[in-house]
Amino acid sequence: MTLLEAASRVRENAYAPYSGFKVGAALRSASGQVFLGCNVENAAYPEGTCAEAGAIAAMIAAGETQISELVVVAESPDPVPPCGGCRQKIAEFAGPEVVVTLAALNGARHEVRVADLLPGAFQPSHMDGA
Ligand code: THU
Repeated sequence: MTLLEAASRVRENAYAPYSGFKVGAALRSASGQVFLGCNVENAAYPEGTCAEAGAIAAMIAAGETQISELVVVAESPDPVPPCGGCRQKIAEFAGPEVVVTLAALNGARHEVRVADLLPGAFQPSHMDGA
């Protein structure tokens, strides 16, 4: 199964009763394992979590820390860009050259490098000297 297929499949499990907007994410880690996430909303709206955050949490829980590929899929006229918070979360675990594929169910695709998703990202080195 491709990452896109995996992301599309896990998207169906998204819990999105408030927005009605289901998102699926699938990432491949450095070891080649695939980790999945979907958005999980909450009646207390700010407590909802994004699909990307779920996939990253699954990777970390399995003891891995390096993303080599990531696909995010949603039903939208255009591929959905990760939110600002997710860009920062992705940048924590993916090098600047890692490709993130944004996909819509209608077949639209957009590929973007992590460096272009979050130029000037806050990084651990910014805390040097603290
Ligand atoms: N959402 C994601 O899961 N990932 C994104 O990249 C964009 C937005 C979710 C959050 C919320 O549950 C719903 O989509 C609407 O914002």
